[in-house]
Amino acid sequence: MLEKLKDICKNALCEINECQDLKQLNLLRVKYLGKKGPIQDAMKVMKDLDKEQRKVLGQVSNETKNDILEAIDAKTKKLEKQMLEKKLKKEAIDVTLPSFKPPLGTMHLTNQIIEEIEDIFVGMGYTIATGPEVETDHYNFEMLNLPKDHPARDMQDTFYITEELLLRTHTSPVQARTMLEYNGVGPVKIICPGKVYRRDDDDATHSHQFLQIEGLVIGEDVTMSDLKGTLEFYVKKVFGEDREIRFRPSFFPFTEPSVEVDVTCAKCKGKGCSMCKHSGYIEILGAGMVHPNVLGMGGFDPNKYQGFAFGIGPERIAMLKYGIDDIRQFYTNDLRFNRQFNLKY
Ligand code: DAH
Repeated sequence: MLEKLKDICKNALCEINECQDLKQLNLLRVKYLGKKGPIQDAMKVMKDLDKEQRKVLGQVSNETKNDILEAIDAKTKKLEKQMLEKKLKKEAIDVTLPSFKPPLGTMHLTNQIIEEIEDIFVGMGYTIATGPEVETDHYNFEMLNLPKDHPARDMQDTFYITEELLLRTHTSPVQARTMLEYNGVGPVKIICPGKVYRRDDDDATHSHQFLQIEGLVIGEDVTMSDLKGTLEFYVKKVFGEDREIRFRPSFFPFTEPSVEVDVTCAKCKGKGCSMCKHSGYIEILGAGMVHPNVLGMGGFDPNKYQGFAFGIGPERIAMLKYGIDDIRQFYTNDLRFNRQFNLKY
């Protein structure tokens, strides 16, 4: 019997030695040390032996088990080490290889222009206001001196959601909302950038969605020359010190008097050329002195307070500044377009 155990041990160690993977090794463990294994089998004769023989057989079988177990453990460690080495070799990273630049996003040109304009006005002491894009007829029109059936409503083709709800056609309703927030006490100095919507057919100069920046100043002695000085400062900052502005009389229901503001042409500097249709100037924004009705509806006493307001189109500014000839470029998300204006980041 002892010979048999010796043979079992020899065979086991031989098989363990030749074994090449952990799964197979586990099968060997079951084969030799399991309940139905040869050692257990050899123990069956135990009951026929005397005490002394039992002791010897028990001892030898234990030694055999331990030898096999030790061999399996040692082999397990060896195989695990081999596997790890193989894996590390396979996954080795060559840190000396040249790297590649991951593609980075950039700020969109419209956001850059808005930030640039915001910086100019914040530098003059303005704060930034916001308002909802889904607006009521009340704030979008009525509070701005555009009662129902007013013909000037036709100037702005509107996306109506219900009779009362609409997509704001301009950022001017934020003027009305801001005035009410101030409870009739000035001074007020805000700009409001945001998206606006019109029922226009899209073409090179029209987009059904575009951006505006509204400006509103209210104080006790605000005059038209303050408006002119402010816009002149703004234009020179955006387009350059050599550019001049001019005011042309115009009409907006919410301002009186109202003006259209032009800047001298970038190409001819006011002399007249094909770019400015020989006028020397290019229109850039609408503005005016806040209409007393608008001040009154906003809770300000028109006998005590005056104000000026203006509406800037940031896309138009970007188009003039960078020679972009189609407003739809801002909304197509063509990366080739966007990447050209990676000015800041
Ligand atoms: N809301 C006008 C528009 O969308 C732009 C505008 C003109 C705003 C004159 C003003 C302003 O605040 O005073 O056409």
